[in-house]
Amino acid sequence: MKTYDFIVVGSGISGLSFALRASQFGSVAVVTKREAMMTNTAWAQGGICCVKGENDSFAEHTADTLDAGAGLCDEKVVSTIVSEGPPAIDELIEWGVKFDASRDPETGEMELDLGREGGHGKRRILHSKDTTGREIETKLLAEVRETENIDLLEFHFAIDLITTAKLGFASPPRCVGIYALDVKRESVVTLRSDRVILCTGGSGRVYLYTTNPEVATGDGVAIAWRAGVEISNMEFVQFHPTCLYHHEVKSFLITEAMRGEGAELIDRDGRPFMKEYDERGSLAPRDIVARAIDREIKRTGEPCVFLDITHKSREYLADRFPNIYETCLSLDIDISTQPIPVVPAAHYQCGGVKTDVNGASSLPGLWAVGEVACTGLHGANRLASNSLLEGVVVSNRALDDCLNALPIEGDSDEHDLPEWESGDVTDVDELVVIYHNWDEIRRLMWDYVSIVRTTKRLQRAATRLHNLQREVQEFYWNFHVTADLLELRNLVETAALIVDSAARRKESRGAHYTLDFPEPISEFRKNTVISRF
Ligand code: SIN
Repeated sequence: MKTYDFIVVGSGISGLSFALRASQFGSVAVVTKREAMMTNTAWAQGGICCVKGENDSFAEHTADTLDAGAGLCDEKVVSTIVSEGPPAIDELIEWGVKFDASRDPETGEMELDLGREGGHGKRRILHSKDTTGREIETKLLAEVRETENIDLLEFHFAIDLITTAKLGFASPPRCVGIYALDVKRESVVTLRSDRVILCTGGSGRVYLYTTNPEVATGDGVAIAWRAGVEISNMEFVQFHPTCLYHHEVKSFLITEAMRGEGAELIDRDGRPFMKEYDERGSLAPRDIVARAIDREIKRTGEPCVFLDITHKSREYLADRFPNIYETCLSLDIDISTQPIPVVPAAHYQCGGVKTDVNGASSLPGLWAVGEVACTGLHGANRLASNSLLEGVVVSNRALDDCLNALPIEGDSDEHDLPEWESGDVTDVDELVVIYHNWDEIRRLMWDYVSIVRTTKRLQRAATRLHNLQREVQEFYWNFHVTADLLELRNLVETAALIVDSAARRKESRGAHYTLDFPEPISEFRKNTVISRF
């Protein structure tokens, strides 16, 4: 057993920024299931939003967030996170993150370039070309690797939380550590801490089509759920309207920042169709745009729609969106002369582990920060580029909260934690079953629980998932744990939580749309909160 003052699970912006700050107060383990760089953060293109321009205000950013959130944002949380943005951005810059800037021709001063995305009334997106997340992740990771007080445990897969309740202690319920699979050594380690912070990101891989990397399998939500922690608003899965449609390249995002620079959604005949759905056209909030595209695809029978940015010059596109320009060119799509084929894909989990604005969950000793958490910032539909901001602001608040709630000098060794017991198990004999179940979950979620839902489809999904859950559970008890098996277990659990939450919401709101109840209903203007016990 190894003891730390803080255990951070996950290595995106929330986990790394927390670890860097926390290392000034005590020892930190950053537990991450693959290479630390493999995160949703690293894939973020558009940017991080923050009120910076003189003609913008916290009130306007708050209003745009509330509008996108369709009546379910917590206004106090929104205004807190929005107003704490500027110092958090300054801290990122101090850690070495470089945002695009140019010289103001009048004052001669360097000013940050501000982009625009759907649902934003003003330009307020800080970016680093179209690889903002990669820039943030690289710089934070370099700092973490150089910080003595931080153990970066790559290829360590958090299996479950260790709680006083699970251990049968009479003391009040709290989290006291985690079990993690050391993937390379194929053994389970026991990590003890009074402060565990889940920063595991989202669950896009629950769906067949997603903009998320392979690691986004809902681990944090599933881990928290199994420990009886409250989970909120899992029905609100945000679909990004523009994922590249190409048979060779899956999961490649075409940033919304392109629409911020005037790109138009058109059909195969070149007809811009978005104004028929919303007066804000291609820059309407994502739920509206994704549903409109879904409708157009179903109506025309075409496999995709197109994003047209050919009004911009080749030089401009190669400079402002180099990653997209080069990737498309390598696939024989010249975006300066050809529209880009796009489809919607699962992108962001608006719900998650229910927390307050400090990341505190319903279980003492457990915090959750970033996409894994549901603070009330996003409501029923996240405003573009608010998530990196939430990660870096709430991780700061979570550290203060940790230190106030459980001062490090108060730590004791009262809990000697038992080692993991494997029991009488063997190696998984038929990997094909794991891969088959994995595919089945992703396909059924796409077919029955995606952009447009119905009660009947949700019921079908629930029945199938129930069987799959039983099967996966049998695997879990009978075989040695592997990373694949752990991901499958988390994936099926998270899928079931999405379906269960969606079935409870008998209305349409934000990212949850059902043909059986196509309008918002005031009695449902509340969060869905579920827990296992
Ligand atoms: C994008 O670049 O379109 C993604 C931004 C976000 O999801 O916040």
